[in-house]
Amino acid sequence: TQNEPTVFKGLAGVVVDRTAVSKVNPESNSLLYRGYPVQELAAQRSFEEVAYLLWNGELPTEDELADFEEQERSLRHLAPAVRRVIDELPVTAHPMDVVRTAVSLIGANDPQVDDASPEANRAKGLRLWAQMPSIVAYDQRRRHGLDLIEPRNDLGYSANFLFMTFGEVPELVVVEAFDVSMIMYAEHSFNASTFTARVITSTMSDLHSAITGAIGALKGPLHGGANEAVMHIFDEIGAGPGAGERAEVWLNHTLDAKRKVMGFGHRVYKHGDSRVPTMYTALLTMIEHYGRPDMLELYESLAAAMTARTGILPNLDYPSGPAYHLMGFDTLTFTPIFVAARITGWTAHIIEQTAANALIRPLSLYNGHEERHLS
Ligand code: SDX
Repeated sequence: TQNEPTVFKGLAGVVVDRTAVSKVNPESNSLLYRGYPVQELAAQRSFEEVAYLLWNGELPTEDELADFEEQERSLRHLAPAVRRVIDELPVTAHPMDVVRTAVSLIGANDPQVDDASPEANRAKGLRLWAQMPSIVAYDQRRRHGLDLIEPRNDLGYSANFLFMTFGEVPELVVVEAFDVSMIMYAEHSFNASTFTARVITSTMSDLHSAITGAIGALKGPLHGGANEAVMHIFDEIGAGPGAGERAEVWLNHTLDAKRKVMGFGHRVYKHGDSRVPTMYTALLTMIEHYGRPDMLELYESLAAAMTARTGILPNLDYPSGPAYHLMGFDTLTFTPIFVAARITGWTAHIIEQTAANALIRPLSLYNGHEERHLS
């Protein structure tokens, strides 16, 4: 009717707050973290430097970085209680459920439980971020009947993550590609999981609650779960001779059935995801390193068929899925890797939301039953 308020379904196009953490610009197809283009950061800086930048607003000096790295490395070990709880969970549990449970448990043991100052939230974020490789790597290992590998504090974040997963010091080229993926995944303004974290923070709840909720939001295939879903598509189509035709048949069948093709499309970007070119280059390096041109053929064929039929372009999850697969990660581990990266962005937003808080509580337009009475 005439006086009905407009409903912004899915909050599409609605600006709900300000942020100084990152700028997603769909017109110029660019992404800035605290003002720096993400491609420049990926080419010249480590994931640790990017985490520091997101949390502190500026890149670290040499001394600040050394100090930050030392702190992160000293916090990598899993508390025995966290390990025991993970061991209690079935190996068939989705790793996102394991990660979500571990974060919640760590929150219940938070030594700064009543402190929501920026310093305390940075310390909480740092502790969580530092433990994430232990949780994610151990969960992949236990699914294969393997034991936890203790962290190595002579390795950087990404190298240690790979070491704890596979038990070998990784080759530099693999560490670099993994580090690029972590930088690409670190932050992306008011995406669904970050918004979830901000909603929870807006009630003056704590960081661990906000991140536990954010992990739940990230799990879904319309959001972070898409990198896992991309790999299922690749498995279903199958790389190797004839992949091009198979990809086209699969795609037409999927779209005819009105199903979404995971790894394509984006709420904000309509001319392509700013992070894809950088991640695509990292994927190419992995394809060359592992000698898998068949994977590239499948990747290109599916993307070409999708673009030809719909004009919809790949998002970051499209190149990252196969890259993680080539590195040796289980498909189920892909979204937990996204968690480890995004904890940096979530923490920055939790600090920002706390500093200029307003309870997030929108309105709804009632479309239920007319008023009625019991007798
Ligand atoms: C991430 O927000 C962020 O920043 C998220 C993220 C981050 O870093 O935090 O970038 C990470 O979540 C990436 C997105 C991962 N999700 C997927 O890959 C899932 C597949 N993609 C889509 O379902 C979809 O594109 C969304 C969910 C990502 C965006 O959806 P919107 O903005 O709600 O758009 P829509 O679903 O309304 O699509 C518009 C049209 C529709 O067709 P019509 O009804 O108008 O005819 O495009 C079609 C859609 O059906 N469409 C797709 C499609 N994406 C859009 N059709 C088939 N397959 C797709 N992937």
